[in-house]
Amino acid sequence: MKIDKNLLNLPLTKTNPNSLNSLFGSDKVIPMWVADMEFAIAKPIQKALIDRVENSSFGYEYKPESFYSAQRKWYKNHYNIDLKIDEVLYSPSITTTISTVIENFSDISDGIIIQPPVFMEFRDVIRKTNRRIIKNPLKFDGNHYKIDFEDLKEKAKEEKNKILILCNPHNPVGRVWTKTELKKIISICKKNNVLLISDEIHKDIILFGNQFTSVLSYSDEWEKLVVCSSEAKTFNLPSISDSMAIIPNENIRNSVKKSFNKYNLGRTNALTRVALETAYNKGDNWLRNLIKTIEENVNIIDQELAKSNSKIKLIKPEGTYQVWLDFTDIFNDTKEMFQQITERSGVGMNAGHWFGREGALFMRMNIATSKEKVKNSIQKIIKAVKN
Ligand SMILES: Cc1ncc(COP(=O)(O)O)c(C=O)c1O
Repeated sequence: MKIDKNLLNLPLTKTNPNSLNSLFGSDKVIPMWVADMEFAIAKPIQKALIDRVENSSFGYEYKPESFYSAQRKWYKNHYNIDLKIDEVLYSPSITTTISTVIENFSDISDGIIIQPPVFMEFRDVIRKTNRRIIKNPLKFDGNHYKIDFEDLKEKAKEEKNKILILCNPHNPVGRVWTKTELKKIISICKKNNVLLISDEIHKDIILFGNQFTSVLSYSDEWEKLVVCSSEAKTFNLPSISDSMAIIPNENIRNSVKKSFNKYNLGRTNALTRVALETAYNKGDNWLRNLIKTIEENVNIIDQELAKSNSKIKLIKPEGTYQVWLDFTDIFNDTKEMFQQITERSGVGMNAGHWFGREGALFMRMNIATSKEKVKNSIQKIIKAVKN
């Protein structure tokens, strides 16, 4: 997989000195935190974008039938899902959709269930909409994360807890929820009338033969369902991607649509349209190559840790391009862990507790970069905890 060295010279969020200074106390760290990649985008996408810019007409854009058929084909080929375009709304970001759904389907101070440690913006969106964060923490057995279904049943029973936000694949722990797990979730939501938001942004990056199932496969069983997704992660397009809200139920969809219309959200951006259509039509090879590269990078970390006797444990990801590293056998204090690792290794990773206190004494490392950088960084981290 080609690494674009020039990417490192662009004012990207990941390398922005202000962000680095405020997060890591130095702008000299090797940035392996925010979830974007250091790979050049797929050549066909780049070419399509260049052609579109050369066309030079940027009047109002619309999504032609070719866009929808490319999107339908992607869902059919990858997930065996017959995507119904009537059920899809477009929004500027997944978090825009989540806050809209929360506002439309719960009241101030109602509970929204999340499964920490989890993508921190879920917590932020719940706070910003003045709802209560209800935690159904994942269970960790030392190697593997599971859903605590008994606790979920209790939380879902509470009448005021109206919505569950599921992250599948799960960021940051890397689980890809199985059909059995998803069926249990659907059944709990149905029994307790809980609306299920499933954030499936990492759906395409599935590793080591695991299999992703969208909750859309269960829309006949439970229709209070909002599936959020985009190709931002898959094809490294977060700065030009929009997102989809797939909502099978007509009443829920109309309510969300009304809110999007109120703020005129979902207008088609010419570059986004071109990039996504090309990704759906011609992105398969690039994606296969990406997955292979990420798997190789996971294996490098695994081998380096095995050689090192360092007591750092790798929670092997089933999906996403992040690895979740366990430092619980080495540190007792999150601040000390973060400082020691960051200062001594010079590698800037996300501290686990940024994803909720359930992530304390873990770190999330972004491995969508070169093998050399992954190897070099994990060696520095090992050295930092040995000293
Ligand atoms: C689970 C998850 N959802 C959503 C996002 C961000 O999506 P958006 O930029 O469309 O809000 C991320 C980004 O890291 C993510 O990991």
